[in-house]
Amino acid sequence: MTDYLANAYPRLAGKLRKRSIASLPTPISHHEVQLPAGTRSITVKHDDQTSLIYGGNKVRKLEYILQRAQDRGAERVATFGAVGSNHALATAIHAREAGLGCTCFLAHQKRTPDIPRTLSMHLELGTEIVRYGGGTNRLELYRRYLQNRKTWVIPLGGTCWLGAIGFVNAGLELAAQIESAELEAPERIYIANGTMGSVAGLAIGLALENLPVEVHAVRVADNRFAKREVLDRLMNKTTTLLNRLDPSIPLEAATRTRIIWRDDFYAGGYAAVDDTTTHAVEFARDNLGLALDTTYTGKAMAALLHDLEMSCDGTSTLFWNTYNSMPLPPIDSDGHSLRNLPDQFKRYYDMKTLKCDLCEATADGETFEEWMTALRPHYMEAHADVMSDSSKTKEDMERWMAENKARFDAA
Ligand SMILES: Cc1ncc(COP(=O)(O)O)c(C=O)c1O
Repeated sequence: MTDYLANAYPRLAGKLRKRSIASLPTPISHHEVQLPAGTRSITVKHDDQTSLIYGGNKVRKLEYILQRAQDRGAERVATFGAVGSNHALATAIHAREAGLGCTCFLAHQKRTPDIPRTLSMHLELGTEIVRYGGGTNRLELYRRYLQNRKTWVIPLGGTCWLGAIGFVNAGLELAAQIESAELEAPERIYIANGTMGSVAGLAIGLALENLPVEVHAVRVADNRFAKREVLDRLMNKTTTLLNRLDPSIPLEAATRTRIIWRDDFYAGGYAAVDDTTTHAVEFARDNLGLALDTTYTGKAMAALLHDLEMSCDGTSTLFWNTYNSMPLPPIDSDGHSLRNLPDQFKRYYDMKTLKCDLCEATADGETFEEWMTALRPHYMEAHADVMSDSSKTKEDMERWMAENKARFDAA
């Protein structure tokens, strides 16, 4: 029985249907690791394995969302994300399995190593990918791609009350695993916090089970989107709607959640990477056998490692691995299908990532000029003294530019 929610609240069955696409419960593993502070225990919840086709946290949300789309007669779903969005890819993959078409509106993001593979997968799947944001005419796009197409629109990251329900179910699932002694109740859970649906649902699920666990919500998205008050609103809406479907679900569950909002491992930007993130990803690979990404899970792991160093032995800590670990097919190396990629997306295959010549900061660019433009604010802020050094002549600046260009061309 993987519908923990309907099991606990039978009145929900039939009203809140889910498409059983996730392999639940996801496994738990236990590890002992050596840190400078001593030996520490880490428990891992493997949502990387929510599906044999394509796992990760989004599958839990899609169980409810895709079911609702089909119940309402949709023939296609449309959603939003950044170019390398795991949510957009998960939606495309699982929508196809459900016999639904899929349109993804994708916005520019910092280049990451996963993007070419993600775009190649969209091509394989036949996803309709559309460049979004940065001057696109949204109304025109909506008319062109959504109107008269029986399309169910899924918000950014699959985050809406229905998506969050997938993680309420996850909270109940964890409680059942604790009950069956697969693990002891952790004191803290660490989870990447992007559009906040996973954290919202999980915290409510744990509150419904009266588990006094701290959910460390490690922010990985810009604080224009990821905001504490928006998270609170989402939790209130989710519990209100659950309560409407089954009045035995307490409204005040949303106020009993124990979220620790973490801003300190953001690394300066969505998909930005710093040494702390890189170290966390390497640590998880070498000590826990996990393949994490640098945009989401690496940051949650960085927060966990930081806190373990500070805590005393015996603090029980659970890492919620939200990043798919199922292998994806290799990228079409002769590039046949890439030719079908809309032009605005081809640049992600051609872009270079290069360091500043004075420190470890990086920027992306398809051309030298683009790279320099991306790096300029960094030079002005981090190396203002060098940039405004009046002893530098025009020739010095030209030489410096030429050296940087040579470095870019050689990369
Ligand atoms: C691997 C991974 N982890 C965590 C998250 C964050 O989940 P949420 O958007 O529900 O906060 C995402 C969102 O895209 C993700 O792809």
